[in-house]
Amino acid sequence: MILVIDFGSQYNQLIARRIREHRVYCQIEPPGIEIEDIRALAPEGLILSGGPASIYEKGSPKADDAIFELGIPVLGICYGLHYMAGALGGRVHQAEKREYGLAELHIQHDTGIFKGIRSPTRCWMSHGDAIENPPPGFRAIGSTSNTRMAAIEDAGRKFYGVQFHPEVSHTVRGKKMLRNFLFEVCGCKRTWTMKSFMTQAVAEIRSQVGDQRVILGLSGGVDSSVTAMVLHQAIGKNLICIFVDNGLLRKGEAEEVKSVFKEHLKLNLRFVRARKRFLSRLKDVENPEKKRKIIGRTFIEAFEAEAGQLKDIGFLGQGTLYPDIIESQSTFGGPSVVIKSHHNVGGLPKKMRLKLVEPLKHLFKDEVRRLGKELGLPEGLIWRQPFPGPGLAIRIIGKVTQARLSVLRKADGILLEEIRAAGLYKKLWQSFAVLLPLKSVGIMGDQRTYEDIIAVRAVTSKDAMTADWAKLPHNLLGKISNRIINEVRGVNRVVYDISSKPPSTIEWE
Ligand code: XMP
Repeated sequence: MILVIDFGSQYNQLIARRIREHRVYCQIEPPGIEIEDIRALAPEGLILSGGPASIYEKGSPKADDAIFELGIPVLGICYGLHYMAGALGGRVHQAEKREYGLAELHIQHDTGIFKGIRSPTRCWMSHGDAIENPPPGFRAIGSTSNTRMAAIEDAGRKFYGVQFHPEVSHTVRGKKMLRNFLFEVCGCKRTWTMKSFMTQAVAEIRSQVGDQRVILGLSGGVDSSVTAMVLHQAIGKNLICIFVDNGLLRKGEAEEVKSVFKEHLKLNLRFVRARKRFLSRLKDVENPEKKRKIIGRTFIEAFEAEAGQLKDIGFLGQGTLYPDIIESQSTFGGPSVVIKSHHNVGGLPKKMRLKLVEPLKHLFKDEVRRLGKELGLPEGLIWRQPFPGPGLAIRIIGKVTQARLSVLRKADGILLEEIRAAGLYKKLWQSFAVLLPLKSVGIMGDQRTYEDIIAVRAVTSKDAMTADWAKLPHNLLGKISNRIINEVRGVNRVVYDISSKPPSTIEWE
């Protein structure tokens, strides 16, 4: 494995991704990580990441300098290069001409990380500091017009440093440089697969949990579904999944979860029917925040009531992913893993005094999907678009009733069917129907109608922080509109939402 020391660069997740693509396991840890903990991880190489600070600045992040005595290769990137140079007796200065953006890199020695790379090549710079004097034992191996020491090496100790960012795609041969570091310099082997992950995860879960029982809130989303599968492989019937049917799910969803997990995969699943309870609590509520609070509280109540009937529960399973962990690690202190306030189980651990077991906490989303596939989960579950915890309640603007749920569920079902048939389901971040609290006039046959309006929402996005309305083909929009108006009684108009986020949000409430 390769250990990345996180000095705060925005590109760190990218480094980890690039390395894992080569089937080499990679973990990101804050600079405060203890040297014994590093030894225990037994990395084959270290990467010191970039970061926004300047090394002589007060409070700039520092690692234990014993990392340079572990006898393993080190690659310093940007701040990581400056840090290594400072720690080993070199000098860093603030460059007169700051170099940001694209630069031509002239390679002087094409060995080590530059093996097989032709000079010059484009690289991406983004820091104000640069190496003035390299530490003893180092030599320059690459330069740009503004930066004499854009890359340095100490081939004897296998220490490398680059002023630019090899992990970003603008550095044209960056992937090759990282690959060289992994295989030419560190001698890594391509052994990290989902199978090897599973073997390790199962062993870890067994040693953490022993013969205690674990409960898990299963929502049918990919994270909780894969978490369930991994835990099931490790502890079998000692995993108890609780699925709360709140009556706010999409067409066929509750039934699918039941049939996949209980009947097909034989998980120990407790199916809690709470439709009526949710609906009665939501009666006459129009305020979106109130809806969310009521749904969250009612979920916890239902989950706790079910869990309360079980004996000897020691752990709560959670589908926390790696980005949640990395984002909650503080760069300047030790790791402070904040528990993801998952919409479904937020607030539960404290009250129930359960320890957490989070088997996916070192995986990225696409790795979770790959794992899910290997564990036999159906495609439909693995590729499910995100669905909010409060479900259809926040897609019915205004009061939520059984009748309105039924209208929205039908319209949404048609919309998804057409999006899938057009081959767009995986390309869109989300696509769904919203039921508006308005009626408008229409004409059907010879009859004047006065009925509901459905809004269609479809967006593309990378992380839901920003989103673009999807430019769906007009004939597809036409087909969706025709089918909804013809097949869903009570709807006589369909509109398309053409707002992006920001300033709009993805959901309407
Ligand atoms: P917005 O509407 O804020 O949504 O642009 C961003 C993403 O978050 C999802 N979302 C939620 N997910 N519980 C959830 O688990 C919620 O209460 C909730 N509200 C919004 C939304 O579907 C989108 O993917």
